[in-house]
Amino acid sequence: MLRAGIFGISGYAGQKLVEILLSHPRVAITQGFVSPERGTPEISDIMPRAKNLISLRCENKYDWKKIGEGCDILFLALPHSVSMKLMPEILDLGKKVVDLSADFRFSNLSTYEKWYQKHACPQYLDRFVYGLPEMNRKAISESSTVANPGCYPTSVILAMLPLASGGLMEESVIADSKSGVTGAGRSLKLENIFAECNENMKAYKIGEHRHAPEVEEVLSRASGKNCSLTFVPHLVPFNQGILSTCYARLREPAEAGILQALYEDFYRDEPFVRIMDYGTSPAVKNVLNTNFCDIGIKLVNERLAVVISAIDNLVKGAAGQAVHNMNLMTGMEETLPFFRKM
Ligand SMILES: NC(=O)c1ccc[n+]([C@@H]2O[C@H](COP(=O)([O-])OP(=O)(O)OC[C@H]3O[C@@H](n4cnc5c(N)ncnc54)[C@H](OP(=O)(O)O)[C@@H]3O)[C@@H](O)[C@H]2O)c1
Repeated sequence: MLRAGIFGISGYAGQKLVEILLSHPRVAITQGFVSPERGTPEISDIMPRAKNLISLRCENKYDWKKIGEGCDILFLALPHSVSMKLMPEILDLGKKVVDLSADFRFSNLSTYEKWYQKHACPQYLDRFVYGLPEMNRKAISESSTVANPGCYPTSVILAMLPLASGGLMEESVIADSKSGVTGAGRSLKLENIFAECNENMKAYKIGEHRHAPEVEEVLSRASGKNCSLTFVPHLVPFNQGILSTCYARLREPAEAGILQALYEDFYRDEPFVRIMDYGTSPAVKNVLNTNFCDIGIKLVNERLAVVISAIDNLVKGAAGQAVHNMNLMTGMEETLPFFRKM
């Protein structure tokens, strides 16, 4: 059995990791950590649905020797900035690491520092592989340190990757994404409480969300060109899920059948990406609690493609993708414990 430790086990992403790993036949959760203020609760006190499924007392201090002896892989489901402060000690343990925060996603330090803050350990940035298996499968499987992509970026990049990799789209892309409320994490924020979100929908951080530069960096790498993204996220009144509607201008006139075939071929061997019939939209309901990304394509005119993707932000957009990365990093069957497409 692979022994997993989870930092940030009480958060939404941490709890989803517990849920997924409990159904993984080759992994045991051996340690879990919460913030110093929380005390040392039993996991089922934080996460009642885990009652009688796992016995684990969470810790709020780091005994690095014990962590080193008790874990083979460490998941960091911590806020950005908290993650990078722990990273030097974590890397010293020589274990496999999947970081779900943004701290090690960027290869360009100045982009990270412009959008987030001063980096505490930039010397480690180039040790991390961007953990999008559909793009970096080989590098992930050869790496011990993986930076899990953001939730919005996962949905937008997967929608745009076939066009970007094929050099078929112009450099400027628009994405309009709608996310459920768990995307903002579990800490209390007025705008995320039930009475504010329920029966409501609004855009936020219009053109200035931190996930845009992450998408730009990755699509630029895929296309070999300087991609720019106009990104407008929306908060919608459901718990989990993201629907991203992406608009790409094409370099050459295209035909519907050829575009559809491009996406089907590109993702043919990908276990977790499903392409809808031409012209139909994916739906958040169909991917909830799965590791799937569903994608629908439509040409509005011969030079404008609309590509819509749906994921579960906590699964394919966070914990599920982290477990997928763990499987690749450890040589386990890639799709455990998820449904995969036929
Ligand atoms: N939510 C998503 O859809 C999603 C998707 C992709 C990536 N992510 C990323 O995953 C990470 C976790 O997100 P989340 O949504 O799960 O956040 P969250 O619900 O707010 O949980 C944060 C976790 O980190 C712990 N924590 C906070 N400050 C800490 C500190 N100073 N020291 C130790 N532990 C601390 C919290 O412990 P306490 O409960 O004890 O405070 C909690 O367990 C973030 O970096 C986020 O950007 C989230």
